[in-house]
Amino acid sequence: MADEPPPHEALCVDDFEALARAKVRADYWDYIAGGAGSERAIAENRAAFGRAVLRPRVLVDVSACATTTTVLGHDLASPVIVAPTAYHRMSHPDGELATARGAADAGVLYVTSFFSNYTMEEIARAGGAAPRWLQLYWLHDRELFGGVVERAADAGYEALVLTVDTPVLGLRLRDARNSLALDPETVPANLTAAPTLLTTRTGNSSAVAAQAVQAFDASITWNDLAWLRGRSSLPLILKGIVTAEDARLAVEHGVAAIVVSNHGGRQLDNPIGTLDVLPEVVEAVAGRCPVLVDGGVRSGHDVAVALAFGADAVLVGRPVLWGLAVDGAAGVTRVLRLLQTELLRVMALIGRPTLASIDASAVRW
Ligand SMILES: Cc1cc2nc3c(=O)[nH]c(=O)nc-3n(C[C@H](O)[C@H](O)[C@H](O)COP(=O)(O)O)c2cc1C
Repeated sequence: MADEPPPHEALCVDDFEALARAKVRADYWDYIAGGAGSERAIAENRAAFGRAVLRPRVLVDVSACATTTTVLGHDLASPVIVAPTAYHRMSHPDGELATARGAADAGVLYVTSFFSNYTMEEIARAGGAAPRWLQLYWLHDRELFGGVVERAADAGYEALVLTVDTPVLGLRLRDARNSLALDPETVPANLTAAPTLLTTRTGNSSAVAAQAVQAFDASITWNDLAWLRGRSSLPLILKGIVTAEDARLAVEHGVAAIVVSNHGGRQLDNPIGTLDVLPEVVEAVAGRCPVLVDGGVRSGHDVAVALAFGADAVLVGRPVLWGLAVDGAAGVTRVLRLLQTELLRVMALIGRPTLASIDASAVRW
Protein backbone atom coordinates (compact mmCIF):
# COMPACT_ATOMS: atom_id res chain seq x y z
CA MET A 1 0.00 0.00 0.00
CA ALA A 2 2.77 2.38 0.94
CA ASP A 3 4.07 2.24 -2.65
CA GLU A 4 0.85 3.53 -4.16
CA PRO A 5 0.72 7.24 -4.88
CA PRO A 6 -1.24 9.14 -2.24
CA PRO A 7 -4.88 9.57 -3.19
CA HIS A 8 -5.13 12.76 -5.21
CA GLU A 9 -8.42 13.68 -3.55
CA ALA A 10 -6.71 14.39 -0.23
CA LEU A 11 -5.54 17.95 -0.67
CA CYS A 12 -6.31 19.10 2.86
CA VAL A 13 -6.62 17.34 6.22
CA ASP A 14 -10.41 17.24 6.09
CA ASP A 15 -10.22 15.33 2.79
CA PHE A 16 -8.60 12.49 4.71
CA GLU A 17 -11.60 12.19 7.00
CA ALA A 18 -14.00 11.06 4.28
CA LEU A 19 -11.43 8.68 2.80
CA ALA A 20 -10.70 7.19 6.21
CA ARG A 21 -14.34 6.72 7.10
CA ALA A 22 -14.79 4.36 4.17
CA LYS A 23 -11.98 2.15 5.51
CA VAL A 24 -12.77 1.85 9.21
CA ARG A 25 -15.36 -0.47 10.77
CA ALA A 26 -18.48 1.50 11.79
CA ASP A 27 -18.27 1.03 15.56
CA TYR A 28 -14.53 1.75 15.58
CA TRP A 29 -15.19 4.83 13.45
CA ASP A 30 -17.72 6.04 16.02
CA TYR A 31 -15.15 5.48 18.79
CA ILE A 32 -12.66 7.64 16.90
CA ALA A 33 -15.01 10.36 15.70
CA GLY A 34 -17.31 10.55 18.70
CA GLY A 35 -17.28 12.62 21.84
CA ALA A 36 -19.10 13.01 25.12
CA GLY A 37 -22.83 13.62 25.44
CA SER A 38 -24.24 15.78 22.69
CA GLU A 39 -20.71 16.30 21.28
CA ARG A 40 -20.92 20.07 21.74
CA ALA A 41 -17.31 20.14 22.93
CA ILE A 42 -16.09 18.70 19.61
CA ALA A 43 -18.05 21.34 17.74
CA GLU A 44 -16.83 24.13 20.02
CA ASN A 45 -13.19 23.15 19.59
CA ARG A 46 -13.66 23.73 15.86
CA ALA A 47 -15.93 26.77 16.26
CA ALA A 48 -13.33 28.59 18.35
CA PHE A 49 -10.88 28.46 15.44
CA GLY A 50 -13.63 29.88 13.24
CA ARG A 51 -13.96 32.90 15.54
CA ALA A 52 -10.26 33.79 15.38
CA VAL A 53 -8.98 35.85 12.48
CA LEU A 54 -5.38 36.32 11.46
CA ARG A 55 -4.06 39.86 10.83
CA PRO A 56 -1.79 39.74 7.78
CA ARG A 57 1.15 42.13 7.46
CA VAL A 58 2.48 42.85 3.99
CA LEU A 59 5.77 43.80 2.36
CA VAL A 60 7.72 41.58 4.70
CA ASP A 61 10.44 39.33 3.27
CA VAL A 62 8.79 35.89 3.45
CA SER A 63 11.01 34.22 0.88
CA ALA A 64 12.44 31.86 3.54
CA CYS A 65 9.84 30.98 6.17
CA ALA A 66 10.83 28.33 8.71
CA THR A 67 8.56 26.08 10.81
CA THR A 68 11.34 24.37 12.76
CA THR A 69 11.15 24.68 16.52
CA THR A 70 12.40 23.23 19.78
CA VAL A 71 10.10 21.83 22.47
CA LEU A 72 11.64 20.57 25.73
CA GLY A 73 14.97 20.26 23.95
CA HIS A 74 13.62 18.29 20.96
CA ASP A 75 14.27 19.73 17.51
CA LEU A 76 11.01 19.42 15.59
CA ALA A 77 10.18 20.00 11.92
CA SER A 78 7.18 22.07 12.96
CA PRO A 79 5.19 22.99 16.07
CA VAL A 80 2.85 20.03 15.41
CA ILE A 81 2.96 16.94 17.65
CA VAL A 82 1.02 13.68 17.36
CA ALA A 83 -1.51 13.52 20.23
CA PRO A 84 -1.83 10.27 22.17
CA THR A 85 -4.75 8.26 20.84
CA ALA A 86 -5.63 4.72 21.86
CA TYR A 87 -5.91 1.57 19.75
CA HIS A 88 -4.39 2.41 16.35
CA ARG A 89 -5.20 -1.06 15.01
CA MET A 90 -8.77 0.17 14.78
CA SER A 91 -7.49 2.27 11.87
CA HIS A 92 -4.79 0.08 10.32
CA PRO A 93 -3.35 -3.41 10.98
CA ASP A 94 0.13 -1.95 11.50
CA GLY A 95 -1.31 0.31 14.20
CA GLU A 96 1.14 2.36 16.26
CA LEU A 97 4.15 0.90 14.42
CA ALA A 98 2.95 2.68 11.29
CA THR A 99 2.17 5.86 13.23
CA ALA A 100 5.66 5.86 14.73
CA ARG A 101 7.27 5.40 11.30
CA GLY A 102 5.03 8.00 9.71
CA ALA A 103 5.69 10.57 12.42
CA ALA A 104 9.45 9.91 12.33
CA ASP A 105 9.50 10.38 8.54
CA ALA A 106 7.81 13.75 8.98
CA GLY A 107 10.21 14.81 11.77
CA VAL A 108 7.31 14.91 14.21
CA LEU A 109 7.22 13.97 17.88
CA TYR A 110 4.76 11.17 18.63
CA VAL A 111 3.11 10.93 22.04
CA THR A 112 2.28 7.24 22.37
CA SER A 113 -0.94 6.38 24.20
CA PHE A 114 -0.72 4.11 27.18
CA PHE A 115 -3.51 2.12 25.48
CA SER A 116 -1.63 1.07 22.37
CA ASN A 117 -2.01 -2.16 20.40
CA TYR A 118 1.75 -2.69 20.26
CA THR A 119 3.99 -2.44 23.30
CA MET A 120 5.78 0.81 24.06
CA GLU A 121 9.07 -0.99 23.29
CA GLU A 122 7.89 -2.15 19.84
CA ILE A 123 6.63 1.34 19.03
CA ALA A 124 9.90 2.91 20.16
CA ARG A 125 11.87 0.60 17.86
CA ALA A 126 9.60 1.45 14.92
CA GLY A 127 10.15 5.19 15.50
CA GLY A 128 13.95 4.84 15.39
CA ALA A 129 15.79 8.00 16.38
CA ALA A 130 12.69 10.22 16.49
CA PRO A 131 11.84 11.79 19.85
CA ARG A 132 8.98 10.21 21.79
CA TRP A 133 6.89 10.78 24.89
CA LEU A 134 4.63 8.28 26.67
CA GLN A 135 1.11 9.17 27.78
CA LEU A 136 -0.17 7.69 31.03
CA TYR A 137 -3.50 7.07 32.70
CA TRP A 138 -3.17 6.64 36.45
CA LEU A 139 -4.21 3.08 37.25
CA HIS A 140 -5.68 1.75 40.50
CA ASP A 141 -3.09 -0.99 40.44
CA ARG A 142 -0.01 0.92 41.60
CA GLU A 143 2.34 -1.99 40.98
CA LEU A 144 1.16 -2.35 37.41
CA PHE A 145 1.21 1.42 36.91
CA GLY A 146 4.64 1.87 38.46
CA GLY A 147 6.00 -0.93 36.28
CA VAL A 148 4.75 0.79 33.12
CA VAL A 149 6.24 4.09 34.28
CA GLU A 150 9.62 2.49 34.89
CA ARG A 151 9.63 0.80 31.48
CA ALA A 152 9.21 4.16 29.72
CA ALA A 153 12.74 5.49 30.27
CA ASP A 154 14.32 2.13 29.37
CA ALA A 155 12.34 2.09 26.12
CA GLY A 156 13.71 5.55 25.20
CA TYR A 157 10.72 7.75 26.00
CA GLU A 158 11.88 11.22 26.95
CA ALA A 159 8.89 12.54 28.88
CA LEU A 160 5.75 11.30 30.62
CA VAL A 161 2.44 12.88 29.67
CA LEU A 162 -0.04 12.29 32.49
CA THR A 163 -3.61 12.74 31.31
CA VAL A 164 -5.51 14.44 34.12
CA ASP A 165 -8.95 14.96 32.58
CA THR A 166 -9.96 11.32 32.84
CA PRO A 167 -10.79 10.30 36.43
CA VAL A 168 -13.66 8.47 34.74
CA LEU A 169 -14.50 8.19 31.05
CA GLY A 170 -16.91 10.73 29.56
CA LEU A 171 -20.37 9.52 28.57
CA ARG A 172 -19.81 8.47 24.97
CA LEU A 173 -23.26 7.71 23.68
CA ARG A 174 -22.13 6.37 20.31
CA ASP A 175 -20.04 3.69 22.00
CA ALA A 176 -22.85 2.76 24.39
CA ARG A 177 -25.35 2.51 21.55
CA ASN A 178 -22.92 0.37 19.56
CA SER A 179 -22.23 -1.83 22.62
CA LEU A 180 -18.58 -1.21 21.73
CA ALA A 181 -16.18 -4.02 22.59
CA LEU A 182 -12.65 -4.61 21.30
CA ASP A 183 -11.61 -7.46 19.02
CA PRO A 184 -8.73 -9.57 20.38
CA GLU A 185 -6.23 -7.87 18.03
CA THR A 186 -7.21 -4.44 19.34
CA VAL A 187 -6.59 -4.98 23.06
CA PRO A 188 -3.94 -2.93 24.93
CA ALA A 189 -0.45 -4.42 24.57
CA ASN A 190 1.29 -2.73 27.49
CA LEU A 191 -0.75 -4.71 30.00
CA THR A 192 0.46 -8.26 30.49
CA ALA A 193 -3.09 -9.63 30.43
CA ALA A 194 -5.76 -7.77 28.51
CA PRO A 195 -8.80 -7.26 30.72
CA THR A 196 -11.57 -9.59 29.50
CA LEU A 197 -13.97 -6.71 30.15
CA LEU A 198 -12.64 -4.96 27.04
CA THR A 199 -13.64 -7.77 24.70
CA THR A 200 -16.99 -8.51 26.32
CA ARG A 201 -19.94 -7.04 24.46
CA THR A 202 -22.80 -5.99 26.71
CA GLY A 203 -26.08 -4.38 25.68
CA ASN A 204 -26.28 -0.58 25.75
CA SER A 205 -22.87 0.01 27.27
CA SER A 206 -19.29 0.42 26.13
CA ALA A 207 -16.69 -2.12 27.20
CA VAL A 208 -14.02 0.60 26.91
CA ALA A 209 -15.94 2.74 29.43
CA ALA A 210 -16.52 -0.24 31.74
CA GLN A 211 -12.80 -1.06 31.72
CA ALA A 212 -11.89 2.56 32.49
CA VAL A 213 -14.15 2.58 35.54
CA GLN A 214 -12.38 -0.52 36.79
CA ALA A 215 -8.81 0.48 35.88
CA PHE A 216 -8.52 4.26 36.42
CA ASP A 217 -7.78 5.70 39.85
CA ALA A 218 -10.28 8.52 40.38
CA SER A 219 -8.84 9.40 43.79
CA ILE A 220 -5.52 10.91 42.71
CA THR A 221 -4.76 14.55 43.55
CA TRP A 222 -1.86 16.98 43.14
CA ASN A 223 -0.23 15.31 46.16
CA ASP A 224 0.13 12.04 44.26
CA LEU A 225 2.43 13.57 41.63
CA ALA A 226 5.33 13.16 44.06
CA TRP A 227 4.81 9.37 43.95
CA LEU A 228 5.04 9.42 40.17
CA ARG A 229 8.23 11.46 40.30
CA GLY A 230 9.63 8.91 42.72
CA ARG A 231 9.18 6.21 40.07
CA SER A 232 10.68 8.10 37.13
CA SER A 233 13.05 10.99 36.60
CA LEU A 234 11.57 11.78 33.18
CA PRO A 235 10.08 15.27 32.76
CA LEU A 236 6.37 15.27 33.66
CA ILE A 237 3.80 16.94 31.41
CA LEU A 238 0.13 17.32 32.42
CA LYS A 239 -2.47 16.95 29.67
CA GLY A 240 -6.02 18.16 30.17
CA ILE A 241 -5.57 21.53 31.91
CA VAL A 242 -8.27 24.05 30.95
CA THR A 243 -8.23 26.70 33.69
CA ALA A 244 -5.78 29.33 34.91
CA GLU A 245 -6.09 27.95 38.47
CA ASP A 246 -4.92 24.48 37.48
CA ALA A 247 -2.23 25.89 35.21
CA ARG A 248 -0.77 27.79 38.18
CA LEU A 249 -0.91 24.68 40.35
CA ALA A 250 0.78 22.66 37.63
CA VAL A 251 3.64 25.16 37.42
CA GLU A 252 3.95 25.19 41.22
CA HIS A 253 4.26 21.38 41.08
CA GLY A 254 7.18 21.73 38.71
CA VAL A 255 5.69 20.28 35.53
CA ALA A 256 7.80 20.44 32.39
CA ALA A 257 4.87 21.49 30.19
CA ILE A 258 1.08 21.79 30.08
CA VAL A 259 -1.28 20.53 27.40
CA VAL A 260 -4.48 22.56 27.21
CA SER A 261 -6.91 19.85 26.16
CA ASN A 262 -10.48 18.64 26.62
CA HIS A 263 -9.54 15.22 25.25
CA GLY A 264 -10.91 16.09 21.83
CA GLY A 265 -14.37 16.68 23.36
CA ARG A 266 -14.54 13.12 24.65
CA GLN A 267 -14.80 13.82 28.39
CA LEU A 268 -16.92 16.74 29.63
CA ASP A 269 -19.51 17.94 27.13
CA ASN A 270 -18.41 21.46 27.84
CA PRO A 271 -19.32 24.19 25.38
CA ILE A 272 -15.97 25.99 25.59
CA GLY A 273 -13.32 25.23 23.00
CA THR A 274 -9.73 24.70 24.05
CA LEU A 275 -8.63 27.67 21.91
CA ASP A 276 -11.02 29.83 23.96
CA VAL A 277 -9.28 28.89 27.21
CA LEU A 278 -5.74 28.95 25.82
CA PRO A 279 -5.13 32.69 26.49
CA GLU A 280 -6.05 32.41 30.20
CA VAL A 281 -3.70 29.45 30.63
CA VAL A 282 -0.88 31.19 28.75
CA GLU A 283 -1.31 34.26 30.95
CA ALA A 284 -1.32 32.19 34.16
CA VAL A 285 1.78 30.24 33.13
CA ALA A 286 3.60 33.45 32.20
CA GLY A 287 6.39 31.72 30.32
CA ARG A 288 7.34 29.40 33.20
CA CYS A 289 6.86 26.27 31.05
CA PRO A 290 5.79 25.48 27.49
CA VAL A 291 2.04 25.51 26.84
CA LEU A 292 0.72 23.09 24.22
CA VAL A 293 -2.87 22.86 23.02
CA ASP A 294 -5.05 20.34 21.21
CA GLY A 295 -8.62 19.95 20.01
CA GLY A 296 -9.87 20.67 16.52
CA VAL A 297 -6.57 21.62 14.87
CA ARG A 298 -7.17 20.76 11.22
CA SER A 299 -4.99 23.10 9.14
CA GLY A 300 -1.84 25.18 9.07
CA HIS A 301 -4.10 28.18 9.61
CA ASP A 302 -5.29 26.65 12.91
CA VAL A 303 -1.69 26.03 13.96
CA ALA A 304 -0.81 29.68 13.31
CA VAL A 305 -3.85 30.85 15.29
CA ALA A 306 -2.90 28.68 18.28
CA LEU A 307 0.68 29.98 18.21
CA ALA A 308 -0.55 33.57 17.99
CA PHE A 309 -2.63 33.00 21.13
CA GLY A 310 0.53 31.86 22.91
CA ALA A 311 0.83 28.11 22.37
CA ASP A 312 4.36 26.74 21.88
CA ALA A 313 3.03 23.83 19.81
CA VAL A 314 -0.18 22.00 19.00
CA LEU A 315 -1.16 18.34 19.11
CA VAL A 316 -3.37 16.65 16.52
CA GLY A 317 -5.41 13.57 17.30
CA ARG A 318 -8.03 12.40 14.82
CA PRO A 319 -6.30 13.68 11.64
CA VAL A 320 -3.37 11.34 12.31
CA LEU A 321 -5.78 8.40 12.59
CA TRP A 322 -7.38 9.44 9.30
CA GLY A 323 -3.99 9.41 7.59
CA LEU A 324 -3.20 6.06 9.20
CA ALA A 325 -6.47 4.52 7.99
CA VAL A 326 -6.02 5.85 4.45
CA ASP A 327 -2.43 4.81 3.83
CA GLY A 328 -0.64 3.51 6.94
CA ALA A 329 2.69 5.16 7.76
CA ALA A 330 2.70 7.05 4.45
CA GLY A 331 -0.73 8.48 5.23
CA VAL A 332 0.44 9.67 8.65
CA THR A 333 3.46 11.35 7.09
CA ARG A 334 1.29 12.98 4.45
CA VAL A 335 -1.16 14.47 6.96
CA LEU A 336 1.69 15.83 9.07
CA ARG A 337 3.58 17.24 6.06
CA LEU A 338 0.36 18.81 4.80
CA LEU A 339 -0.05 20.71 8.07
CA GLN A 340 3.54 21.85 7.83
CA THR A 341 3.20 23.01 4.21
CA GLU A 342 -0.02 24.82 5.03
CA LEU A 343 1.65 26.53 7.99
CA LEU A 344 4.47 27.71 5.73
CA ARG A 345 1.96 29.20 3.29
CA VAL A 346 0.02 30.94 6.09
CA MET A 347 3.27 32.35 7.52
CA ALA A 348 4.07 33.86 4.13
CA LEU A 349 0.56 35.24 3.77
CA ILE A 350 0.55 36.91 7.19
CA GLY A 351 4.08 38.27 6.87
CA ARG A 352 5.51 36.26 9.78
CA PRO A 353 8.53 34.32 8.48
CA THR A 354 9.48 32.82 11.86
CA LEU A 355 7.37 31.11 14.52
CA ALA A 356 8.54 33.72 17.04
CA SER A 357 7.06 36.45 14.87
CA ILE A 358 3.58 34.85 15.11
CA ASP A 359 2.76 36.83 18.24
CA ALA A 360 -0.45 38.25 19.74
CA SER A 361 -0.53 40.97 17.10
CA ALA A 362 -1.11 38.29 14.45
CA VAL A 363 -4.60 37.40 15.67
CA ARG A 364 -7.85 38.77 17.06
CA TRP A 365 -11.24 37.27 17.88
C1 LIG B 1 -9.76 7.83 19.18
C2 LIG B 1 -9.14 8.69 20.24
C3 LIG B 1 -8.46 8.09 21.27
C4 LIG B 1 -7.85 8.87 22.24
N1 LIG B 1 -7.10 8.25 23.20
C5 LIG B 1 -6.42 9.00 24.10
C6 LIG B 1 -5.54 8.39 25.02
O1 LIG B 1 -5.35 7.18 25.03
N2 LIG B 1 -4.91 9.19 25.91
C7 LIG B 1 -5.09 10.55 25.92
O2 LIG B 1 -4.50 11.24 26.75
N3 LIG B 1 -5.89 11.16 25.04
C8 LIG B 1 -6.55 10.43 24.12
N4 LIG B 1 -7.33 11.05 23.19
C9 LIG B 1 -7.37 12.53 23.14
C10 LIG B 1 -6.24 13.07 22.25
O3 LIG B 1 -5.00 12.94 22.87
C11 LIG B 1 -6.41 14.57 21.94
O4 LIG B 1 -6.57 15.27 23.15
C12 LIG B 1 -7.56 14.88 21.01
O5 LIG B 1 -7.75 13.86 20.07
C13 LIG B 1 -7.30 16.19 20.29
O6 LIG B 1 -8.37 16.55 19.51
P1 LIG B 1 -8.49 16.29 17.92
O7 LIG B 1 -8.79 14.85 17.76
O8 LIG B 1 -9.65 17.17 17.56
O9 LIG B 1 -7.20 16.71 17.29
C14 LIG B 1 -7.97 10.29 22.21
C15 LIG B 1 -8.67 10.88 21.16
C16 LIG B 1 -9.25 10.11 20.17
C17 LIG B 1 -9.97 10.78 19.06
